[in-house]
Amino acid sequence: MRSLDEFASGKLAALEQARLRRAPAVTARDGIWAERDGRRLLSFSCNDYLNLSGHPAIVKAAIEAVERYGLGAGASRLVTGNHPLYAELEERLARLKGTEAACVFGSGYLANAGIIPALVGPDDLILVDELSHACVNAGAKLSGATVGRYRHADVAHVEEFLVALRSRHPRALIATDGVFSMDGDLAPLAALSRLASRFDAWLLADDAHGLGVVGGGRGSSFADGRAEVPLQMGTLSKAVGAYGGYLCASRAVVELMHSRARTFIYSTGLPPPVVAAAIAALDLIEREPDYAAEPLRKARLFTRALNLPEAQSAIVPVVIGDTDAVLAASRLLQDEGFLVVAIRPPTVPERTARLRFAFTAQHPDAEVERLAGIVRSRVLRR
Ligand SMILES: Cc1ncc(COP(=O)(O)O)c(C=O)c1O
Repeated sequence: MRSLDEFASGKLAALEQARLRRAPAVTARDGIWAERDGRRLLSFSCNDYLNLSGHPAIVKAAIEAVERYGLGAGASRLVTGNHPLYAELEERLARLKGTEAACVFGSGYLANAGIIPALVGPDDLILVDELSHACVNAGAKLSGATVGRYRHADVAHVEEFLVALRSRHPRALIATDGVFSMDGDLAPLAALSRLASRFDAWLLADDAHGLGVVGGGRGSSFADGRAEVPLQMGTLSKAVGAYGGYLCASRAVVELMHSRARTFIYSTGLPPPVVAAAIAALDLIEREPDYAAEPLRKARLFTRALNLPEAQSAIVPVVIGDTDAVLAASRLLQDEGFLVVAIRPPTVPERTARLRFAFTAQHPDAEVERLAGIVRSRVLRR
């Protein structure tokens, strides 16, 4: 249709002009390596923090499950898609996170888009960290609740919101990333949980980048002592190396999801091999805390070499600011054999375009040091 294509082309031209047009590049992955345009690059742009997506025991578990149960789940979990592997995965997740129960969703994005509107609605209040992931914001918007965006990790600002607004709303939810996806820092979960209980607000932490990496592999609620986080959600697509999202919570909350979370009810269950792979990966994470500590150790090697603030997770940003400059820095690193994708607005705030380095257990120390040397001398020019 002409008007439709004109609309799309106009939007694309505007994005191109602002250097914000995106296109997926074909990338074949093999452990820590990525192949692009016929070049093999050492990738620092993958969230497979423990390199489990190709781990032999995990791949074997997936193959056995596909042979036994087939590929697709065939229906929503409330119809016939709830194959036997789900119960085991949910028990494992709840055990790891220290909650009564867990509920697995189709992805992390779908989890937040389902959980948040199942808990709060138009009369209620949600306070969201300004740097929280897009799917936390999507869930907040879908709920129709009043949304307050507080300054990044600023507990005093959350308190200001609660003092001013809490009494006007029957329910209040505080939602934050546990590990911030583009900055790598940890949310102040212990302080937020104390504040939440003072104001009878519910705390949701999105642990997409924490599980398997911080808190001895148990995630961000375990990273700084033990924070009381009644809603621990996350994804199985990063350190777990598989796919899917989850919520670990009380049994009552999990059972409410089964009846009220629309992305749980109206979406097909995960493929059995994906669920089997996630179970095998959680086994490994529970069994091998020393291995789970490796991505953070590599990240700290990098931040020490560059004199940056010590890494708190496997993610280290080097903020460049200007979009063209960050694209040039990414090309420079590619010429040196590294894949470090440039992250631009709107994924990050205006004028904070950056290189986002993601460290994984199997990155060789010597390569981390070589990378740091190039960033120091040729990107930061120190
Ligand atoms: C903080 C955070 N939450 C949620 C998600 C979404 O998870 P998924 O990829 O499983 O949809 C991501 C990234 O993808 C993320 O970085």
